[in-house]
Amino acid sequence: MKKQSRPSIFSSAQRDLWRAVDSSIWTFDADRLRRDPALPVLQTLLDQPRWLEAHHLYDETGSKLFETICELPEYYLTRTESAILAQKAEEIIRIAQVDCIVELGAGTSQKTLYLLKEQTRQRRGGTFAPIDVSLSSLKVARDAVKKQFPRLTFHGLHGKYQDGIAAIDKDLPTLFVFLGSTVGNFNHSELIGFFQHLSDSMGPRDFFLLGVDRVKKRELLEKAYNDAQGVTAKFILNVFANVNRLMGANFDSRKMRYHSWYNPEWQQIEMYAVSTAAQEIRFPSHAASFSWPKDDRILVEISRKFDPARLQQQLQWFGLKPVAHFTDPKEWFSLLLFHKSSSS
Ligand code: AVJ
Repeated sequence: MKKQSRPSIFSSAQRDLWRAVDSSIWTFDADRLRRDPALPVLQTLLDQPRWLEAHHLYDETGSKLFETICELPEYYLTRTESAILAQKAEEIIRIAQVDCIVELGAGTSQKTLYLLKEQTRQRRGGTFAPIDVSLSSLKVARDAVKKQFPRLTFHGLHGKYQDGIAAIDKDLPTLFVFLGSTVGNFNHSELIGFFQHLSDSMGPRDFFLLGVDRVKKRELLEKAYNDAQGVTAKFILNVFANVNRLMGANFDSRKMRYHSWYNPEWQQIEMYAVSTAAQEIRFPSHAASFSWPKDDRILVEISRKFDPARLQQQLQWFGLKPVAHFTDPKEWFSLLLFHKSSSS
């Protein structure tokens, strides 16, 4: 790989924290800033209820299982959002006059291609910078984008959202895109931290496009997260293989089962691993352990459902002004477009 010079989308303060890992893909040198990556995991697993941060689901196996989920008949989210984007990309790009599109948790960026197509059609070019913790997904995105949109500059940012967002030059007119209702995986404090950080990192000419799944009939929701083929169960329980790898722990997938339900009061699907036998979970590298009794559960993931009008109101507190709302005929899913308001 030839030596690549760091792209100008990075702010000068952040630029030298990123280095090339592959052609057109940059990685955040987290080791230089952060300590033991196992500690936050231990912290959430020792919390009550025990829980895990959502990004641990997306190792190589998890990312593939999620792609499979997106094709399931019960999982309406991806195809509904995709249909809205196909129809509204032109209008979205017309409103958001930017040079750069930054996508958070992009995966392989399939749905984003609608936006990129409009960006090249209306402005002839620009930069696409997806942020993802999965390097293999970024490579797939890069190859697709370079082939289909040779006029776009591609910079894949391999890292966590916070690091990627903070790295983008505030003066560069940017559309931040966060699709798939991934924001629904954040718990209350993660959500507030996320919006605050995003808004602080946005310049006065920036936009934010947010895709969210809406509150709807319980049966539809529960089926989407408990499919007949059991792919979702596999996806959720696979997180423990990743945790074992990261921490040298001894979670055993044969001693757990998947359970999920819609919690109407919190308006969220809750996805659990339930212990099927009394067991001792050990973290030898940290001389820590806990006992996991039969029928006791670990909250692996939540998926919140939203009321778009209320979300628009809430985001105003973070200095994000609603400028457009797009939905599907059944009103199952919403795409919300915000502008960074200069008054905050
Ligand atoms: C990746 C956030 C879109 O919450 O619907 C799918 C993850 N988990 N099935 C979601 C997920 C179980 C998904 N998102």
